[in-house]
Amino acid sequence: MKGIILAGGTGSRLWPITLGNSKQLIPIYDKPMVYYPLSTLMTAGIRDVLVITAPEHADLFRLLLGDGSTWGMRIEFAVQPSPDGLAQAFIIGEQFIAGDSVALALGDNIFHGAGFETALPVIDDFTGGHIFAYPVLDPERYGVIEFDKDGTALSIEEKPATPKSRYAIPGVYFYDSTVVDVAKNITPSARGELEITSVSEHFMNQGTLKVSVLDAGTMWFDTGTVDSMMDAAEYVRAIEHRTGAKIACPEEIAWRQGWINDAQLAALAKPLEKSGYGSYLLRLLER
Ligand code: G1P
Repeated sequence: MKGIILAGGTGSRLWPITLGNSKQLIPIYDKPMVYYPLSTLMTAGIRDVLVITAPEHADLFRLLLGDGSTWGMRIEFAVQPSPDGLAQAFIIGEQFIAGDSVALALGDNIFHGAGFETALPVIDDFTGGHIFAYPVLDPERYGVIEFDKDGTALSIEEKPATPKSRYAIPGVYFYDSTVVDVAKNITPSARGELEITSVSEHFMNQGTLKVSVLDAGTMWFDTGTVDSMMDAAEYVRAIEHRTGAKIACPEEIAWRQGWINDAQLAALAKPLEKSGYGSYLLRLLER
């Protein structure tokens, strides 16, 4: 399975912060925002990742992430000239996907918790679609999924004025290789975008959409506004201070997945020692 991180857009809800920078490069506490969706994909076992950015930010992402080889990964880059909808990621990424199944992680979505990790799909021989549902107070801000009493998905709507349930669909989606054609054939919404909800709706109508309901034991943040960004940063800080474990540390995940060995982890840690990030990585080796 391949992975795509969509890190485009203008970040207009964060202006002026994002007038001179990409939203997905600004920090959530102690690391750039894009480390969080990247960690989500890595935790699912995905080593091949395409990062889609706005054209003006492409070089900054290359500087930060490189080609992924030092993390035992392969990272490629593509640009989204204008933000015409999340489903466009599959059309931009067609050659990269190359007939494999693919997970899309939105660049501003953060997940944490054991419940989330166990709900992630097994990526070998993946068919159909797999998305998540998460109860929130303000479902009208998101894609919303409605279930019948047996838990079968009934409807999926993008930012409905009158939500049919309190379950939002968070920003990580798993689909089989047919998603490229599905994305090419969906009709743009009233706001002129290729909506990801239309893609999931297609798999739902086909009877191949799996939905995992996440409970309050999982934390999910969409960090598109200043306040939600601060909420996420405070959460990450509190957990990291209390437990001494980092959330969304790609070097650590690569090492735990066996993609890099002890010596490679130590080599990554050395230049990062001054900030404390590298010392954290070295402590992992001592334990
Ligand atoms: C997007 C999707 C929406 C999803 C949300 C998750 O909305 O369109 O379906 O629930 O991400 O963060 P956006 O945040 O781009 O407005």
